[in-house]
Amino acid sequence: MDALRGRYLDGIAGASDESSLEDIRLAALGKKGEISLKMRELGRMTPEERQTTGAALNRLKDEIDAALRARKTALGDAALDARLKAEWLDVTLPARPRRQGTIHPVSQVTEEVTAIFADMGFAVAEGPQVESDWYNFDALNIAPEHPARQEHDTFFMARAPGDNRPPNVLRTHTSPVQIRAMQERGAPLRVICPGRVYRMDMDQTHTPMFHQVEGLALGRDINMANLKWVLEEFCRAFFEVDSVELRFRASHFPFTEPSAEVDIRCSWEGGQLKIGEGDSWLEILGSGMVHPKVLAAGGIDPNEWQGFAFGMGIDRIAMLKYGIPDLRAFFESDLRWLKHYGFAALDVPGIVGGLSR
Ligand code: PHE
Repeated sequence: MDALRGRYLDGIAGASDESSLEDIRLAALGKKGEISLKMRELGRMTPEERQTTGAALNRLKDEIDAALRARKTALGDAALDARLKAEWLDVTLPARPRRQGTIHPVSQVTEEVTAIFADMGFAVAEGPQVESDWYNFDALNIAPEHPARQEHDTFFMARAPGDNRPPNVLRTHTSPVQIRAMQERGAPLRVICPGRVYRMDMDQTHTPMFHQVEGLALGRDINMANLKWVLEEFCRAFFEVDSVELRFRASHFPFTEPSAEVDIRCSWEGGQLKIGEGDSWLEILGSGMVHPKVLAAGGIDPNEWQGFAFGMGIDRIAMLKYGIPDLRAFFESDLRWLKHYGFAALDVPGIVGGLSR
């Protein structure tokens, strides 16, 4: 009995983890454990023997059981101590300084525009910034000799010597994504296509790279009235004013017929721009009914489908909404400008509760 006790208690004291403790428990007290087997032998003893041996075995069993528990607790405490030492943290350290980065107004406004149009059932479509001549011009009813090509101040990509195909271009507008969306998704269709566009131009309100968002809605009887409602609804939500007044001015684009440029009523009183009231008008976008040839280029039957399209300058409406006077500053990466006009990362625009609050 003493030899048994010595062996097991030594084993328990030397066990270094829970699984070796469990092995010891099974060897001693498990169903086929040494002590359990000895208990079974009691039946073959005389009543006197049974009384002394049985009591001694029971005491030994309790002793081993207690030693196992104590060792298990000690091992757990040691592990916790080790963890506390390793995961040490000085809670008296000062809090982190305000983060330096902010969300750029173009990113923020793109999110705002996307949230508003998503609410009206428009999906987001994208296309490449290096675009083929066909997608950027021909498919949009701008033939090679069309004067609109000159107006676009296009950047052309170089071709390998001897390659006589027309050069690719940096897309001059987001309208080529109309064609890609029609080809990929078919009609009926409701998409907006935000993204970068490029034109050789630079002054206070023009930069060689800027951002547009294209809108395209195709159905069996979508008309100019639908276009007007969607744009008014958009402006109300975007500029966060209850009433907006839009002016549709007859215009010309090769890819729409009829075409309209859209101005928004505003005032410049005291040098402050106010949207929705006043005697001035500000142009914010081009639009119209998609030209049948453009539908056909997108693989859509113009006898069955019709719809509207518009193209809006994202930087432009960002300047208007947030009172930013110079477009060039958008792309200078001046940290002071970004801190002043940028947005906090958690200011995620949503329809509920106002876009910019
Ligand atoms: N693509 C035109 C531009 O960049 C805008 C536009 C888009 C006009 C869609 C009408 C319809 O000026």
